[in-house]
Amino acid sequence: MSITEQRKNTVADPTLSVIIPTYCEAENLPLLVPRLCAALKAQGIQAEIIIVDDNSPDGTREVCSELQRQYPVRLYQRLTERGLSSAVIYGLNRATGKILLVMDADLSHPPEKVPELVAAMDNPEVDFVIGSRYVPGASTDESWGVFRWLNSRVATLLARPFTAARDPMAGFFAIRQTTYASSDKLNAIGYKIGLELIVKCGCTNVQEVPIHFSDRLHGKSKLNFREQLYYVQHLCRLAKYKLSRSSRFSRFLMVGATGAAIDIPSFCLFLPFLPLPAARGIAIWMAMTWNFYWNRRFTFSDRQSDGMSHQYLRFCASSLGGATISWLTSVLLCELSGFIAGYPAIGAAIGIIAGVSFNFAASCRWVFRPNSQSEAPAAVRLATLDNTTVRQTGMNDLPSR
Ligand code: GDD
Ligand code: MN
Repeated sequence: MSITEQRKNTVADPTLSVIIPTYCEAENLPLLVPRLCAALKAQGIQAEIIIVDDNSPDGTREVCSELQRQYPVRLYQRLTERGLSSAVIYGLNRATGKILLVMDADLSHPPEKVPELVAAMDNPEVDFVIGSRYVPGASTDESWGVFRWLNSRVATLLARPFTAARDPMAGFFAIRQTTYASSDKLNAIGYKIGLELIVKCGCTNVQEVPIHFSDRLHGKSKLNFREQLYYVQHLCRLAKYKLSRSSRFSRFLMVGATGAAIDIPSFCLFLPFLPLPAARGIAIWMAMTWNFYWNRRFTFSDRQSDGMSHQYLRFCASSLGGATISWLTSVLLCELSGFIAGYPAIGAAIGIIAGVSFNFAASCRWVFRPNSQSEAPAAVRLATLDNTTVRQTGMNDLPSR
């Protein structure tokens, strides 16, 4: 393993760690760091600056050495790894501040706004702060092309199911160290590490501070088409993650709903060719098999110790039991209650609830029997420390997680 790490001018117990991922930002850093430090000093904020560079061939290392004479800058140069999100996670894992803030190096994010983002954290209710382009008072440079604007808007819209934030794509954000430490395993794919953190750290109260987003000062953007594809992949993974965190009963209901969506069209499809009882029977059997497959894979994926055929037979039996209970409940209610006899749909709905509840209980206890190990409480998995190849120059052991 090799990394370059420069660490002079360290700040003990800083309030804030500013993490700056860089690739070929040697021209921008000498402008950014002094402006950032002036803004922090004006507000009396003790901070460390962590630059995570991916071995830029543009003299970033020398520039950082120069900056370290005056400013609390720590540089990590990863030699074999490339990627914005993984660089950010790398920096977050080594930060010692109580508040962790991430920003770009190219001066798109105004360093003068950093104290405002930090101040927003004074409210203990707030768990994530974004330097936002899309809230009242925010603006972007006019030179932003229609394509970039549209691209950013569509990407933001796609993130809607995960957060109500207006600008979850932003690379300018702050999070408490304690919140970060509670994150589930992070995925370093693509550019959207802010969104990843909002979802995986369970941030529900996101505050947005309006900023003016400038065009980058020097150099060019590294965001390309491949990163857009990664974004779609990232969204799919986040959706899977969210679904897997929903309760077992919600997953069971979701599968049941898809089963109904298979049942009815199949019934309509078979009806012209088969007698009604046969068409109904085959459609129900198809939906039941579908439900079994997805409940085994998705709802009860942690309980697969029994053989598939045994589970399948038990599932069919419990589904028939559920259907009988549903039928009996609705018929009996109509017999016993004059009111429900007047509104048989209410009886049918109560029957369905009884049948589904029976099915769920049977699935939990009998069909997909818990095995002794699968029910052990899941340990909170922290973001694994990256096995990055990095170069190190005469530094002590680093804080890391
Ligand atoms: N270490 C490292 N490794 N840093 C990188 C890499 C990399 O592979 N790629 C980019 N960076 C750094 C850049 O040097 C810069 O400091 C920051 O990450 C953002 O990269 P840009 O290339 O300037 O990205 P952008 O301006 O197109 O995208 C920005 O805006 C997006 C929203 O429009 C970023 O802030 C994105 O995070 C944001 O989603
Ligand atoms: Mn940029």
